[in-house]
Amino acid sequence: MANVVVVGAQWGDEGKGKIVDWLSERADVIARFQGGHNAGHTLVIGETVFKLSLLPSGIVRPGKLAVIGNGVVLDPWALFSEIDRLAGQGVAISTENLMIAENTPLILPLHQDLDKLREDAAGKAKIGTTGRGIGPAYEDKVGRRTIRVADLADEETLDSRLDRLLAHHDALRKGLGASPIDRADLKARLMEIAPQLLPYAQPVWKIMGDARKAGKRILFEGAQGSLLDIDFGTYPYVTSSTTTSGAAASGTGVGPGAIGFVLGIVKAYTTRVGEGPFPTELDDADGQRLGERGHEFGTVTGRKRRCGWFDAVLVRQTCAISGVNGIALTKLDVLDGFETLKICTGYEIDGVTYDYLPTAAALQAKVTPIYEEMEGWQESTAGARSWAELPAAAIKYVRRVEELIQCPVAMLSTSPERDDTILVTDPFAD
Ligand code: GDP
Ligand code: IMO
Ligand code: MG
Repeated sequence: MANVVVVGAQWGDEGKGKIVDWLSERADVIARFQGGHNAGHTLVIGETVFKLSLLPSGIVRPGKLAVIGNGVVLDPWALFSEIDRLAGQGVAISTENLMIAENTPLILPLHQDLDKLREDAAGKAKIGTTGRGIGPAYEDKVGRRTIRVADLADEETLDSRLDRLLAHHDALRKGLGASPIDRADLKARLMEIAPQLLPYAQPVWKIMGDARKAGKRILFEGAQGSLLDIDFGTYPYVTSSTTTSGAAASGTGVGPGAIGFVLGIVKAYTTRVGEGPFPTELDDADGQRLGERGHEFGTVTGRKRRCGWFDAVLVRQTCAISGVNGIALTKLDVLDGFETLKICTGYEIDGVTYDYLPTAAALQAKVTPIYEEMEGWQESTAGARSWAELPAAAIKYVRRVEELIQCPVAMLSTSPERDDTILVTDPFAD
């Protein structure tokens, strides 16, 4: 049975939510495996727009099981406010259709404090995080002092976890000039939310295993993008999790053999939110036009996204790292009406040509993109649902992208709307 892992192949916001939503019709289980509520996944279904941060996008379809895996960092207050918001949009969420791994680490208010304190202290060297406490929460997980979902079931365990956690945070906060944590208040807040959260807690590794044995189809929903990966991204301007496909296994408790098709989500141009290198960034009228036509404002923070031409070097690299079997190319319609389009095919650094982005920050800072120009198209591709509706120049652009990134297009997206999608190869096909 082919399971599908969806990963962002650029700097996030490639349109993962739309594609996961479309594919979830064919899936039984939809699982998030990393990240937290730093993600903002947009689904447009007719007149209704859903914005999901923590909940797997499959939650909006009745009869599907949504799973939050152990690789995620979970802010329980953010979770319930998202559940309430979706309930207001008519989506029923209960322990019947949502399960959370009992070994999932929590994001606490102290993580958000620390995220902001650090960003403020960094000044110009800031990362430009979403301020959701993601980095500090992962630090505490790896530092073996986090509080996990299951810890909320037993007061004694919670007490000892709090002791260990606060010994660390109070020392850190002192150094940053912040007051110590009010332990009694934090404990009271956790005890208050525990009865709401615990009914969702499950041994997700076991549920995933049972689902596989029963022949169910699993769709793994990645957050962020490969260039924000903690190892392979533009470090330190990255998020704090593994955003590449391998994390689907470790972030839910299945073996790597459970990963069938890896679908990389790729925007037809490039965007990035926050700080860090961006070789093809445009600060001219073309960049402005991409941002306006693509409505490039962050779903989570509302920040303006930086825009630039398609960078085939980076996508070839991330497709290789995640073992991408096919891509979903999104937002092709945003390129409608350009006279000419540019694609970055290589880099020049100190007179040397590179076919990949080297790791050293000093080299990354000196990258000059090597472009090839392609003829644009004046016709509209917006809402196209078949190849036949695409102008020849648009097809040429897509074919050139495939060639340069060495990976085929499995799906094409031509508007935010769920059904404005062209399927080329079914990722779920065995
Ligand atoms: P994600 O984080 O990868 O799920 O992406 P976001 O939802 O943050 O950002 C993608 C934005 O582009 C959303 O507003 C989508 O509704 C929109 N979108 C997705 N696919 C397309 C497309 O093919 N064309 C256009 N014009 N917009 C799209
Ligand atoms: P989705 O799932 C785009 C970026 C932040 C910042 C960096 C670190 O919607 O694609 P963090 O808060 O994670 O410590 O911030 O990562 N970032 C995203 N950019 N899309 C996202 O998620 C992102 N999640 C984090 O802007 O540069
Ligand atoms: Mg997003």
